[in-house]
Amino acid sequence: MHVVAATALLGQASSLRGAAVPCNAKAANSKSRPRVCRVLATAAAEKQAEAGTFADDFTKEIVEEEKKYILQTYARPDIVFTNGEGARMWDAHGKEYLDFSAGIAVNALGHGDPRWLEAVTEQAGVLSHVSNLFHTAPQVKLAKRLVESSFADRVFYANTGTEANEAAIKFARKYAKVKAGLDPYNADTALECATEIVSFTGSFHGRTMGSLALTYKDQYKTPFQPVMPGSVMVPYMDLEAARGVIKKGKTAAVFVEPIQGEGGINPASQEFLQGLRQLCDEADALLVFDEVQVGLGRTGKLWGHEHHGVSPDMMSLAKPLAGGLPIGAVLLKEHVAAVMAPGDHGSTFAGNPLVCHAACTVFDIISDPEFLAGVTRKGELLRSGLRAALEGNPHVQEVRGLGLICGVQLDQMAGPLVTAARDRGIIVITAGKGDIVRLVPPLVVSEEEIEKCCKVLGEVAKEVLK
Ligand SMILES: Cc1ncc(COP(=O)(O)O)c(C=O)c1O
Repeated sequence: MHVVAATALLGQASSLRGAAVPCNAKAANSKSRPRVCRVLATAAAEKQAEAGTFADDFTKEIVEEEKKYILQTYARPDIVFTNGEGARMWDAHGKEYLDFSAGIAVNALGHGDPRWLEAVTEQAGVLSHVSNLFHTAPQVKLAKRLVESSFADRVFYANTGTEANEAAIKFARKYAKVKAGLDPYNADTALECATEIVSFTGSFHGRTMGSLALTYKDQYKTPFQPVMPGSVMVPYMDLEAARGVIKKGKTAAVFVEPIQGEGGINPASQEFLQGLRQLCDEADALLVFDEVQVGLGRTGKLWGHEHHGVSPDMMSLAKPLAGGLPIGAVLLKEHVAAVMAPGDHGSTFAGNPLVCHAACTVFDIISDPEFLAGVTRKGELLRSGLRAALEGNPHVQEVRGLGLICGVQLDQMAGPLVTAARDRGIIVITAGKGDIVRLVPPLVVSEEEIEKCCKVLGEVAKEVLK
């Protein structure tokens, strides 16, 4: 069966479901109505049963064909999501979920935000893509917003987080060559300067060969070795270890997440980031903050590193920036930007008018101080609500986070809890070694939705954690 047909039938079924309610409500006022209502209710129930059977078939077909046609790199539950609104989503059966994953910290404005929708449709109807061979206004407007709101002087656009990091690696490598007085286009001297990139345990920077080399988990890297040579991994938050490897003439850049997301919702300390800043300055190395997950309001500040009062030379962004459309960006200081020349790096899709126009809308909403204060307030509500709901559960070790990125550290794997919560209509994901429940809801999540999530997670934790 076709998806369009499915949607039509499900739409019909759900409107019938809706019709049964007012009928029952009115029935009390009329002698003849109860019978009519019974007839209608029976018809509605039949339609519902029909829709239920259809939804079963539809789900089965999508799941089976996914297995047949799509490369099996994702382990997904047998759920097909069909629509969403705000922090809620519905599957093909019409079951409602509270989405505390936001597509892995992407849908900052939730699903189907009308302002975002208007921006997307408005720009799609005018001009969606022209490549970077020509000027377009939305990418300049977005860059201006990003520069004027941050430490940066310039922006480079990419399409994803890993691509943004990949670009930052390239910029750092070229910067080191130029800084060493080398001709960057002379292959004979290419290695006579700092080339090493330092990153940290627990980090996640992406899945392309450069970003992957900087990513902590071996299981992501080992099957694809050799990844980019010249990377060094240091224990997160261990400044002394970092001092041991960050060296002048050797280190080109240090990549760090001010708050690790995938690694387990681990905020860096101010001393650690300040120490890295100093080590990089002494070694002529670039400090790069990966804010792909925590940038643009997730922590209650526009940029995650604002909590620490330390500025990088470059910052990578992606996930929430265009509210669900693919985007990545590197924000750079002028001294780095100055080494790059036309032709050095590029992308066909990056920064296209459609994505950038949507991103301007997302940026304008999120950068409002009142909106950011709301993220902070709701983050505190989420953590205090979770602490209260999980209090006394011996398997819960810690509830931590900043703003609306939150982690619940368990003494066991979080998978069963995540599955049980999903069965109860709450979508959360894992982090760390799989022993952390990660909550990254849309930033527009309501207080009632937070309270419901905490209540359900508390109940589920009691049932599942043994
Ligand atoms: C901190 C961080 N950097 C980079 C990435 C990679 O982003 P993408 O999946 O868009 O390539 C992620 C993705 O989770 C991330 O959390």
